[in-house]
Amino acid sequence: MYGPVLVGTKVTLRPPDDSDAARFVEWFGDLEVTRYLLRRFAVGQLQEEGFLKTVGESTTDVFWMLEAGGRPIGATGIHQIDWLHAHGTTGIVIGVKSEWRKGIASEAMQLRTEYAFRQLNLHKLSSSTFAENEPSRRALLKAGYREVGVEREHLYREGRWHDHWLCEVRRDDWEPPQAR
Ligand SMILES: CC(C)(COP(=O)(O)OP(=O)(O)OC[C@H]1O[C@@H](n2cnc3c(N)ncnc32)[C@H](O)[C@@H]1OP(=O)(O)O)[C@@H](O)C(=O)NCCC(=O)NCCS
Repeated sequence: MYGPVLVGTKVTLRPPDDSDAARFVEWFGDLEVTRYLLRRFAVGQLQEEGFLKTVGESTTDVFWMLEAGGRPIGATGIHQIDWLHAHGTTGIVIGVKSEWRKGIASEAMQLRTEYAFRQLNLHKLSSSTFAENEPSRRALLKAGYREVGVEREHLYREGRWHDHWLCEVRRDDWEPPQAR
């Protein structure tokens, strides 16, 4: 499934269109962009078109493009949704590096969280990142996620092992601050 349009002050989440596959070819070809992603391979145009088709047809994913300043800059999603137990896992990538550090991920995560709890009736979202990915950790914490553990030396990247930081946000923890 694709998510609907969600408008923030810095970023808009929108469903992908036919021009978007090519953007991932560029973004995932850049080792700086994939540095803290679990993936480390580039993609081809056809592969990415296939992914966007598959994720659009999936009933356990909700996927959005991120747009800022009138252009697509990345993507985010809720994945592996278990509708019975009402949880899913989340991820984000901003592929246009000049858009890093402007608060875009922080706002996108907040919009995604609100949609998950208020529109999809999910109970909990989980996420994870390389422990040293401070921007990602900070943005997740601001969106209401809390650390639930660290898998030590779980990920291999750039010649060494890295800790894997795990976090969750429960709807019951997220709701009260929204009411204030
Ligand atoms: C990680 C990523 C999503 C962060 O997006 P972003 O829009 O740059 O993040 P924000 O601007 O919302 O910043 C979030 C927080 O991190 C801080 N921050 C941003 N860049 C930072 C850096 N290089 N070092 C330390 N802190 C940083 C910000 O100040 C902010 O914290 P604050 O509000 O407490 O001051 C983005 O850099 C990205 O997509 N990177 C490549 C893919 C990736 O790593 N995805 C995440 C995998 S889980």
